[in-house]
Amino acid sequence: MKIDILTLFPNMFEGFLTESIIKRAIKSNKVNIEINNIRDFSKDSHKKVDDIPYGGGSGMVLMCQPIFDAVKSLAKDNTKVVLLTPQGIPFNQKMAENLSKEEHLIFICGHYEGFDERILSICDMEISIGDYVLTGGELPCMVVTDAVVRLVDDVIEKESIEKESFVDGLLDYPTYTKPRVFEDLEVPDVLLSGNHKNIESWREEERVKKTEVKRPDLLDKGKFKLYKNSENVKIIDLKDLKGYSFHPKNNAKRTDLIPVTNMELMFQKFKKNVAKTNIDKKILTLIKSSILFFEEDSSEDNAIIVLGEAERLKALIKNYEKILEKEYREEIEAKIDLLIQEIKIEMISSKNKEEEIEEKQSRSR
Ligand SMILES: C[S@@+](CC[C@H](N)C(=O)[O-])C[C@H]1O[C@@H](n2cnc3c(N)ncnc32)[C@H](O)[C@@H]1O
Repeated sequence: MKIDILTLFPNMFEGFLTESIIKRAIKSNKVNIEINNIRDFSKDSHKKVDDIPYGGGSGMVLMCQPIFDAVKSLAKDNTKVVLLTPQGIPFNQKMAENLSKEEHLIFICGHYEGFDERILSICDMEISIGDYVLTGGELPCMVVTDAVVRLVDDVIEKESIEKESFVDGLLDYPTYTKPRVFEDLEVPDVLLSGNHKNIESWREEERVKKTEVKRPDLLDKGKFKLYKNSENVKIIDLKDLKGYSFHPKNNAKRTDLIPVTNMELMFQKFKKNVAKTNIDKKILTLIKSSILFFEEDSSEDNAIIVLGEAERLKALIKNYEKILEKEYREEIEAKIDLLIQEIKIEMISSKNKEEEIEEKQSRSR
């Protein structure tokens, strides 16, 4: 992976690139990070890169020309250009994971009052590291770069990043090290038991408990649903619960979004609305085919098709037994039964008519 950083303060990156995991990742050629001074791309004789804002106001604004030229000279076919800005999408682990799979990233660090809005037109993504304003994009750029580089293949052992906080919507489990007792504070017995199965399930439970206490918001969004009884907290994968399942189209043009192939709606009210909309749509189709049957084609073949549609709709309503109120289901089922009865009567009478005609014809022959 190659990362090009565009900044007005290259020295700020010195410590960052020469310590710890980033240093190792660079040394082992897992990542190549270049710091580019925005001034080097300025066409101004004094290497000017900013100017006063049109319409007045405080501060200086980064100009288009140096940034446009820098991106043009550095970008390749597969480059993702990322602008660091407090107005961007709040950065998270999933975004770090997606970016770690890119071949080439260009990070643009703003400074001063901000940048000329037209710079957005050459960016693929705007990232914020939180709802606060920093002096420049350098610290946010280091934050994002660190989170991304540690996820690049073989930079860190797979095992250590698999169960980290946020990876699957939960926080990490609590960890302890020697000594066993420190100022009356003890390490939980299970961790000293040597029973790996018990340790594993204790850790899973602790992850849930911790997330519930510290970040309950994650549990609403995550792929897990919590199941609780009096003393236990268990994680259940959504697929074990019957929600309303559907496959989103994934046709959004934003690269920061997580592709979702299967979704399960779990909120009871939401499920109810979706079920009702689904039934309404199917009823409309059934009414249309019934009108066609009564007005244009009362043949036995067509009757079988419409009756099949009606039976499938009844089965669907039965599927929604736990979601929809009994009265609502019974009312619709009664209407469908009435329609089925009418179709059968019409089918018999048109069959009788056909037979009568045939009989008359054979008598007249
Ligand atoms: C002082 S800030 C400009 C803030 C801008 N006037 C605003 O209110 O949106 C200067 C630069 O720091 C960077 N920056 C500041 N806070 C940031 C944050 N929370 N996330 C990402 N970048 C940030 C951006 O590159 C920004 O252009």
